[in-house]
Amino acid sequence: MNILLLGSGGRENALAWKIKQSPKLEKLYIAPGNAGTAAYGTNVDMKATDFDAIRNFVLENRINMVVVGPEDPLVKGIYDYFKNDGELKNIPVIGPSRQGAQLEGSKDFAKAFMMRHNIPTARYASFTAENITEAYAFLDTLKAPYVLKADGLAAGKGVLIIDSLEEAKAELKEMLDGMFGDASRTVVIEEFLSGIECSVFVLTDGDSYKILPEAKDYKRIGEGDTGPNTGGMGAVSPVSFADRTFMQKVEERIVKPTINGLKAEKIDYKGFIFLGLIKVDGEPMVIEYNVRMGDPETEVVMLRIQSDLVDLFEGIVENNLKERTLVTDSRFATTVMLVSGGYPGNYEKGKVISGLDNVKGSILFHAGTTCKNGEVVTSGGRVIAVSSYGNSKDEALALSFENARNISFEGKYFRSDIGADL
Ligand code: AMP
Ligand code: GLY
Repeated sequence: MNILLLGSGGRENALAWKIKQSPKLEKLYIAPGNAGTAAYGTNVDMKATDFDAIRNFVLENRINMVVVGPEDPLVKGIYDYFKNDGELKNIPVIGPSRQGAQLEGSKDFAKAFMMRHNIPTARYASFTAENITEAYAFLDTLKAPYVLKADGLAAGKGVLIIDSLEEAKAELKEMLDGMFGDASRTVVIEEFLSGIECSVFVLTDGDSYKILPEAKDYKRIGEGDTGPNTGGMGAVSPVSFADRTFMQKVEERIVKPTINGLKAEKIDYKGFIFLGLIKVDGEPMVIEYNVRMGDPETEVVMLRIQSDLVDLFEGIVENNLKERTLVTDSRFATTVMLVSGGYPGNYEKGKVISGLDNVKGSILFHAGTTCKNGEVVTSGGRVIAVSSYGNSKDEALALSFENARNISFEGKYFRSDIGADL
């Protein structure tokens, strides 16, 4: 089977690594990919949202399956684009329909969905500029800190958590006035939940589901979870507090009602569901849905899937996922992200990366790299994820840190406290 994988980050490098291991694979293409994905397939210079270019490529290269890494093409409706095209309609896209992708594309839609299906989540209300007075009144009923969320996609920056009521009101006004463009014309205000977070991943054919290994990611730039948010500085799987009892609650109270809810509302969904969860007094609640795998969680979750991922994808396509087996690796997996100096603020690109050959015992997933004059150079804020296995969390982390030190580029930074809180 020929597969086209869309995306260019560490997540896609990890997916490519896993897909490449499948005996069912003939050719793998990654669009646009990065210097790391090139080791597992052919990079194609094409944007993941350029549907017309993707159409031509898929037909010319006899692609049998399209796997979508990031949310953008899904929210823009790549699944429906294929379904509605006479020549593409039999080529499966692993990912939800445009409507299903609203679980990530609209926080208001996601919250309303959870309400309809009784899925535990923070109390909330949604507002636009027309009812800002009601929004202020709703804020008055909440306790600090105040959580304001842009309804639409805002490149991971659309959530503000604010301590003072006055400031929350001022920021709310700015959001409704277009702080995040159209994404914040509607704002979800919600109650603040206090607890510890983890990510749970589900693969579904729309009927049945498989729960993949869970992971915890580290979002802040600074050690001890300080400083601004990033695209993710590291991840660990399994997660000690996501024990059997907790995961059973997640399955009964969140996974089943989500799948059944999608089915009841006749929403086409054949792909990954990412549950951003928080454990509050022992109970799981949903912070957010995403309609794709997480980054950098994929860089540990893929290590823990022993089964053939392409076989699971086939189960999605053929609507018999429940007959396929998911075997997970009981070892620990960790990843440590090397980032550019200055990230997530301004940073320089084009720094030559050396020491990649000194890496032993870890798997490197490139996030922001490219090839230039025969050298691998940095091309993004997050540069390389150093992923490792271990019989304990500490064993895996020790390998990731050792190899993180073996790689060099000007300005390199990584958090040396990944997993330390667990
Ligand atoms: P999101 O973009 O929805 O993932 O939100 C970004 C981060 O904000 C989450 O990972 C949480 O750490 C935090 N967050 C979002 N909603 C809440 C909430 N209701 N209570 C506490 N923290 C939240
Ligand atoms: N790691 C969080 C995300 O992928 O959105």
